[in-house]
Amino acid sequence: MSKVKDESLAVRGEGELLWARENMPVLAEVRKRFEKEKPLKGVSIGTCLHLEKKTGILLEVLAAGGAVVSACSCNPLTTDDCVAAALAKKMNVFAWAGQSNEDYYECINKVLDAKPQVVIDDGCDQVFAIHKKRVELLKSTIGGCEETTTGVTRLNAMAHDGELKFPVFAVNNAYSKFLFDNRYGTGQSTVDAITHITNKLVAGKTVVVVGYGWCGKGIAARMKGMGANVIVVESGVRLNASQPSGWHKALEALYDGFRVMSLDEAAPLADFIVTVTGGKAIVSRDHFSKLKDGVILANAGHFNVEIDEPGLRSLSKRVEEVKDNVVRYELKDGRKVYLLSEGRLVNLARPGGQGHPIEIMDGSFAVQALCARRMLEEGKKMKPGVYDVPVDIDDEVARLALEVQGVKLKKPSREQLDYLQSWKEGT
Ligand SMILES: NC(=O)c1ccc[n+]([C@@H]2O[C@H](COP(=O)([O-])OP(=O)(O)OC[C@H]3O[C@@H](n4cnc5c(N)ncnc54)[C@H](O)[C@@H]3O)[C@@H](O)[C@H]2O)c1
Repeated sequence: MSKVKDESLAVRGEGELLWARENMPVLAEVRKRFEKEKPLKGVSIGTCLHLEKKTGILLEVLAAGGAVVSACSCNPLTTDDCVAAALAKKMNVFAWAGQSNEDYYECINKVLDAKPQVVIDDGCDQVFAIHKKRVELLKSTIGGCEETTTGVTRLNAMAHDGELKFPVFAVNNAYSKFLFDNRYGTGQSTVDAITHITNKLVAGKTVVVVGYGWCGKGIAARMKGMGANVIVVESGVRLNASQPSGWHKALEALYDGFRVMSLDEAAPLADFIVTVTGGKAIVSRDHFSKLKDGVILANAGHFNVEIDEPGLRSLSKRVEEVKDNVVRYELKDGRKVYLLSEGRLVNLARPGGQGHPIEIMDGSFAVQALCARRMLEEGKKMKPGVYDVPVDIDDEVARLALEVQGVKLKKPSREQLDYLQSWKEGT
């Protein structure tokens, strides 16, 4: 039933899963509850997430709760083939690294053949496929959970147009997710992947980070910590009514100690450019003409459209894969530009990217597991739309993440609480 690259990789994959499992204590707590209570008994769950070891533990936890899990990857390059092989022995898996676009969508289709009642997405592709190509499944789908910023943006746009036909929890927007996953997770794993792939020194180099949202902040801080001269580029626009504008983010970056300028000004200075905006054609023809010889381009935003690869290709006289995750574009004037991981999520694209640190995904995926359960319990009563993660789940995951690290907090006294919540006392 499953389709993976090579079933014989399962033994190595089990080792990877074991390593993740032993470092995910929050999910272990959730697993204990799920094993006892079986809240997902017989429920079909479809997941479209980067298929690597941490995701594997989430899938095991869902299965421990009684779910029938079908899994594909949310990106053609990010599957760990060893982990996929190991998981394929326990559930339905349709994923391998290096898929064509056709394979990618076919694998989503295979997951949808299992008629998932709850869908878990990273980027909204599964939800989108149900609404556009498999509309017959709208009847049986109770709801979903979305992992990333770009997915939530797409869902909000669908809801705004009246096109979203079931409820979805915006897991990305839980404090227990974006405060840690987007900032510390993307921060560390993006720097890890860039240095691992290139084996180059960051100290003393000029690193341009485009986008100072939660992910960009993490990348900029870590690059600075490694001795890079970091320049931040932001947009001069307000994109979202409930978020700070690009001007606020730019000012924040300035006060955090970074140089801030437009990409037009920053491009000629850059040794590395990292995009992480969720937008399109952020590094484009206007900038390619200004780049230094030998510059390295990488993207950590969700889709592979932030760096205009077709534009770069059209300006090149030769394009050559140098090694895993590195393609060299030789421009007509002889300058060389290196693009990492085809401009896809550099921290996740195999083999150079390993994804976020395990402890980070322990928290994010605990939110996912608890939200999947809540969606099953309450989804039928909820109207179609994008929902915040219930605060009890958000608080519980943060509390558990502290508890497993031995950190105990003391509650304020009744008197202190009353004072904090009153308007009568003063002076
Ligand atoms: N690589 C990963 O593992 C990972 C993890 C989480 C999220 N993501 C993805 O990373 C992207 C960013 O996520 P986030 O949570 O930081 O989002 P965010 O909304 O907090 O930040 C995005 C920032 O980009 C800025 N921006 C938008 N267009 C711009 C432009 N043209 N020029 C300069 N700046 C621009 C926005 O003003 C905003 O500050 C999304 O696509 C998200 O899905 C990736």
